[in-house]
Parts: sequence; C-alpha cells; structure tokens
Amino acid sequence: METSLNRRTFLARTGLATAGAGALAAGITGVAGCRTDDGAAAQPGTSPPQVSPFDPNDWASVRAQFDLDTQLGQFAAFVLASHPAPVRAAIAVYRDSLDRDTVAATADEVQLEDAARGAAAEYLEVAAEEIALTDSTTMGLGLTYHGLRLRPGDHILTSTHDFYATHEALRLAAARTGATVQRIPLYDDPASAAVDQIVARVRAGIRPATRLVALTWVHSSTGVKLPVRQIADAIGEVNRSRSEADQIRFGLDAVHGLGADPTSPAALGCDMFVSGTHKWLFGPRGTGLVWARRDAWDSLAAIIPTFSGPSFGNWFDGGSAPFVFGLDGTPGGFHSFEHRWALTDAFEFHLAIGKDRVAARTQELATRLKDGIAGLPNVRLVTPRDPALSAGIVCCDVAGRDPLEVVAQLRSDHRVVASATPYQTSYLRLGPSIVTSPEQVDAAVRALASLQ
Ligand SMILES: Cc1ncc(COP(=O)(O)O)c(C=O)c1O
Repeated sequence: METSLNRRTFLARTGLATAGAGALAAGITGVAGCRTDDGAAAQPGTSPPQVSPFDPNDWASVRAQFDLDTQLGQFAAFVLASHPAPVRAAIAVYRDSLDRDTVAATADEVQLEDAARGAAAEYLEVAAEEIALTDSTTMGLGLTYHGLRLRPGDHILTSTHDFYATHEALRLAAARTGATVQRIPLYDDPASAAVDQIVARVRAGIRPATRLVALTWVHSSTGVKLPVRQIADAIGEVNRSRSEADQIRFGLDAVHGLGADPTSPAALGCDMFVSGTHKWLFGPRGTGLVWARRDAWDSLAAIIPTFSGPSFGNWFDGGSAPFVFGLDGTPGGFHSFEHRWALTDAFEFHLAIGKDRVAARTQELATRLKDGIAGLPNVRLVTPRDPALSAGIVCCDVAGRDPLEVVAQLRSDHRVVASATPYQTSYLRLGPSIVTSPEQVDAAVRALASLQ
C-alpha cells in the first residue's frame, strides 16, 4: 500500500530535521554516541579498547599515542596519518557497532557528523555551517574549483609550485567552463624566497579577467609557506574597486598548514580553505574539509548531492531551504562513517595538546633539522630557514644523488623514513612532527652527513 507522507511527518520519522543518510536508512533516531572518561567515543553496550594514559604536556607521551614503529625515525608520517590512540579507539567502537547492526549504528549519524563539524569549527575558530566535510584534499579541491561559478574567458591564476591536485582540478574546471588557467612562479630559488617578491608576483599576475587565485599554503614541492595574509590583502585591494560579479576569489590548498600552523582560515584571509585532515592533523585516513567564508557562498555551487535534511526536504516537497555551505557542500551518499565520526577525536587530541604547542614543536624540530642540514657540505637546503616562510616540510638536495635512491638508503641503512617530492624537480623531503623526537632529528642529520 502506498502511503503519502507530508514533509513534517517524514522529517520527524526519519530524524532528518538536519539529517542525512544514516537517519534516512534507519528510519528512526537512536541513542547518541557517548564519550568514555579518556575522551574516546563509545556506543552503548560496547567496551572501547584500552587507551594508554595520555599526558598532553609530555612529548614522549604524545608520541606513545601512536602505534608507529619506534625503531624508525618517522619523517614521512605527515604524508598519510597514523592514527593516535583516541582516534584508533573511536574508529574501533564505531566500526564494531556498524558491523553489529548498521541500522542502529547509523541512527545518530546526523549528530555524529555535526559533532565532527563542530570540533572542526572549534579547532579552526570559524562557524560550523561554513565547514563541509570531504574525504581528502583532492576531493575538496575538485568540489571547490568545479563549484565556483566561472564564465568563458575568466582567468584563473595559480603557481608553478602547486601540487597535481590543484593543477588538475583547475584544468578540468577550465575545460568545462571555458575559463583559462595561468601558472606563474612565485619565487626562483625556494631557499631565498621573500614575502614582498611573492606578493608582488601574485599582484602582477592578476588581470581584469581574473576571478580565481588558487594557491597552496605550504608547498609540498619545496617546503615554502606562502604569506597568505599578505596575498589576501593584495587581492582585497583589487577587489575593492570591482563589482560583486567580478570579485576575485582566493582558494587555498591548506593541507600542509593544517596541524602545523595554528592560524585560522578566517585570519589567513582566503575565501576557500581546502584540506585533508589525514596529514599533519593525524586524523582518520580518508577525511578532509572545506571551509568557505560566508561572503563567498554566492559564488559556490554544490557538485555532488548532499544528504542533508534541508536538501532532502526540498526534494521531498519542493521546499526552498537556503544554501548552507557546510551542509550543501558535504557530498552525500554513505561514507566510511567510522572514520568520519572519529574526526571529532582527532581535533580533540590536538586541542588537548594545544594548537600553538603543536605548531611550536613542529617548528622547533624543523628548525633543528634545517640548522643541522645547513652545516653539511654534501646537502643543500631547499626550504627557507625563516619560520615565517616555512612550516614542517624540509626539502633538501644531496649532491649527485637521486632523491628516491636516498630515500631507500636512509630507510635501509639508517632507519630513517623520508620521502621524495612527487614533482618534475624532485627533492628529498623530511617532515618532523609531533611523532618525531629531537634525538631522531639529530640522527637524521648524521645519516644525511654520511651519504656519499
Ligand atoms: C599540496 C598537496 N595537496 C594535496 C595533496 C593530496 O592530499 P589528499 O590525499 O588529502 O587528497 C598532497 C599530497 O598528498 C599535497 O602535497
């Protein structure tokens, strides 16, 4: 028998007042997930795995939260996160509950997703409705640059230093809209990059037709951290004399800044801040976010149907709930929910240590590494030594050696895990972080000194 439901009954029955996929599938709302004394998420009737005592003021204790191989100096942990204990525990609880009874486990999907968005908002010091949840930086860049309302002939300015994901997202967006993309170098020698020069080059690259400046906060190609605030101010200056329709939007791949530099996206001054949360934040693998300044919402459209309650409501009875970036920009469909929900625990882990302390520790270790490398005759430092122009990534060049070969030798002969930058000009890359000790930094410097 066919039943006719009105909007209110439908939303009430499915819990979709602000709801998404889980509540829709469940048709009921259940008991919200709860937190154990140590902060790990738990579901009723589930015993969370034991989490070792955690003293956020003790770096050894912070490192002990990770299951990383302690025989290795972990200088590539930022590439793809290892989960700290509270995140592992939360994932285990959610995974087990999903495996036991998917319907019951997803009954609180809306609240759990809202909690993740709320934790991200607290961490980033912005409003929760400005944050869309994604699976990665790459997904966020694709959604953002395809969502931007570009017209044929519009000009997109980016740099030669950006990663494949930005360049490809822009190429695809331009092919679809008829916009053009221009890549410019912002510095010639990364080691001597300078704020004024970078800002002047961005400013000189802006044309009357420019509608998007798409850059990366910390270049994974060189370790250079851009002076984002100053670039935003220069763009703002141009925008002041432009009509609303001709405003330039400033998009940022922020993945190597988030979790390494405490500056909030609003303070940075960009319009769209796109990041994975599975690198320096050490959040669940396969998670990410996009923050969009409220003023920029009008220039952004959703690309993938969201499963938000208001959107479902619009579909259900032709309503016209307004566009809310955080909901409408979050792709719908079922997700690896155990990872998405455990994002809350990743933000809480960092906040327990303190954003500023994490950033200061990352900088302290990176500076120690750079100082060590600067004294080596066989290794050239590529990343600037100035902390204002660098974060946790340290790139260098070992004389006469292929970076990939050096990566292999560092691991096999010295128990140092490094990476090589995946760019046309490739460098050896080490990223000290909260999982690395000062002694491991010194050992890495000694290992580099011994390379022929
Ligand atoms: C600058 C930059 N952006 C994006 C990515 C890809 O991030 P994700 O795996 O979150 O898509 C990388 C490297 O993995 C990167 O170096």
